[in-house]
Amino acid sequence: MRVLGIETTCDETAASIVERLPDGRGRILSNVVLSQTKKHSAFGGVVPEIASRAHVDALDTIIAQAFKNANMTIGHIDGVAAAAGPGLIGGVIVGLTQAKAVAFAANKPFIAVNHLEAHALTARLTDGVDFPYLLLLVSGGHTQLLAVEGVGRYVRLGTTIDDAVGEAFDKIAKLLGLGYPGGPAVERVAKNGNPRRFEFPRPMLGRPEPNFSLAGLKTAVRIEAEKIAPVTERDVADLCASFQAAVVDTVLDRSRIGLQIFQQKYGRPSAFVVAGGVAANMAMRDGLQKLADQAGLSLVAPPLELCGDNGAMIAWAGAERLSLGMKDHLGFAPRARWPLDEAAALPGARA
Ligand code: KG4
Ligand code: ZN
Repeated sequence: MRVLGIETTCDETAASIVERLPDGRGRILSNVVLSQTKKHSAFGGVVPEIASRAHVDALDTIIAQAFKNANMTIGHIDGVAAAAGPGLIGGVIVGLTQAKAVAFAANKPFIAVNHLEAHALTARLTDGVDFPYLLLLVSGGHTQLLAVEGVGRYVRLGTTIDDAVGEAFDKIAKLLGLGYPGGPAVERVAKNGNPRRFEFPRPMLGRPEPNFSLAGLKTAVRIEAEKIAPVTERDVADLCASFQAAVVDTVLDRSRIGLQIFQQKYGRPSAFVVAGGVAANMAMRDGLQKLADQAGLSLVAPPLELCGDNGAMIAWAGAERLSLGMKDHLGFAPRARWPLDEAAALPGARA
């Protein structure tokens, strides 16, 4: 089964063709990602209107390239999937509408994919991980610990009560003048810094529910930066390294609690999986690897090119759904908010 996947929920225009073999293994036949970073960098963050227009400009070409790289035409595929949310609504509409049009014109099934589900299922594409598994989802908009019971079956164990981890990295980068996107910049600068120079708070440490809070940590970095202003290059490196160390400690502590709760309910997870843009952070990966080793679990982290947003994860989630007979109506509406665990979504809480 081959599926075309389209991703346009944020600042990457992406399309991919992925194959799902009868034994459940996956193969990426093409994966084309066009980053809009340059278009947004002058503004210090993603500008939704610019993003949607850039998706409109690029998407046709990106899809054509995905077919070309896979050496295929529309006749070779069995379904068309698009991220139908959550994300910036203008971009979501662009990708979703395009996918519906392609599916309709080619008379192929259409699958509306939850962008978070696509991050969540990537570990099955890359490593064939079995259900149930513990998932740490860390991206620009989301920070959650989830029990992944099956396709479409997610139980949220914990979430952030304020900023997402990637968002915190982005805000620290902006504060210290490192530009956008912030995560990779902070990590790069932190490599030359002293992680012990500043004793930043480790929010929520030891709390029994595996929730996250990062706003206080962000404020602590700002106050420290103001105190020592004007900051030198060394100061910035030390601030970044100390911030990153605090984030990693917090995430490890929260993940440890999440794992305990998972084990009480499901027994041993088949793996500890990390997904989302922040999964590209090496300090985070090293810490999570140690935690997994201590727990006797294998850590499954996507290869770097599948940590950030991409079409392969959408195509794969589409293929997983299609193989279970799940397809969607062409009237499926785009969703700016779309929590993976609808039952756990509290008003005002992050999806
Ligand atoms: O999953 P993603 O590409 O988009 C969302 O769905 O949000 O994640 C993007 C986020 C951004 O906040 C970015 O700064 C962060 O992931 N990120 C990183 C790194 N690479 C990307 N954060 C820390 N270290 C990195 N190396
Ligand atoms: Zn994402």
